[in-house]
Amino acid sequence: MTKIMTIAGQKGGTGKSVTAVNLATSFALIEKSTLLIDCDPQASATQWCGIKALDYTADIARVLSGKATFKDAAIKTEFKYLDVLPAGFDLFQVALKLAKTTENEKMLRLFLKDVEDVYEYIIIDAPSSYGFLSVAAMTAADWLLVCMSVHDNSRQDFHALLRMVKYIRTTHNVPLKIAGLLFNRCDTKEEILSFMENQNLPDIKQMVYDTFIPRDETIQRSIDLKIPAALQNIKSPAAEAYLRFAKELHFFFNKRGVL
Ligand SMILES: Nc1ncnc2c1ncn2[C@@H]1O[C@H](COP(=O)(O)OP(=O)(O)OP(=O)(O)O)[C@@H](O)[C@H]1O
Ligand SMILES: [Mg+2]
Repeated sequence: MTKIMTIAGQKGGTGKSVTAVNLATSFALIEKSTLLIDCDPQASATQWCGIKALDYTADIARVLSGKATFKDAAIKTEFKYLDVLPAGFDLFQVALKLAKTTENEKMLRLFLKDVEDVYEYIIIDAPSSYGFLSVAAMTAADWLLVCMSVHDNSRQDFHALLRMVKYIRTTHNVPLKIAGLLFNRCDTKEEILSFMENQNLPDIKQMVYDTFIPRDETIQRSIDLKIPAALQNIKSPAAEAYLRFAKELHFFFNKRGVL
């Protein structure tokens, strides 16, 4: 059964797009068939996979407008097990139109039925702000992976995210669940533990993954070169951490019998 996961963050810049690209790549490296969906008009995930506008004719905006099917728009990458559904800035205009009707928030979830069971993992990168696209991306998923940073004041933002999950579950009657919390750009486990204490978030300690993503300049270098970190340097701390994390997540889904 396909695991559909949207990457959420307690706020902007926590590393959602970096995680979407590098987690999708890591799943592909361990030979799990994966689709990365870019649902953000910033198109960071599309660009950081090295995909240029000239490389495709259909994208997520055309899918949401009913002008292309998911299967036509998903493009192959140099990773045998990774396809990408790209985004461009025109997604912004399409989203403005679709936002007029709450029912449209379910649209991406309905379109995903087209590729159900084609992929083992579907990873969706969404914008930070709570607008149509982030709600549509969360509604499309069964799982939310929360990308956290020890450098932000999180308590309020985390509770806002929980309220959003509740809204989506009740408005659209979907089984959205939090898969867990991934800490990004931190240096030690102790940093995470003291952050949880300081933010008064001990009740969610058990949701934090063992793996965390270290601060690593390979990430910025790979962004500059528009390639995933594993292609920049597979032995780099960040690329190794994302690979470990893909294995940890795969185990998480196995353990719960949802494979
Ligand atoms: N592990 C890391 N090590 C070093 N730098 C990082 C790491 N993770 C993210 N960054 C830096 O943080 C920046 C923001 O990351 P990213 O764009 O993935 O965040 P985001 O949550 O997707 O932001 P937005 O809310 O704008 O979509 C990146 O451009 C990169 O420079
Ligand atoms: Mg982003």
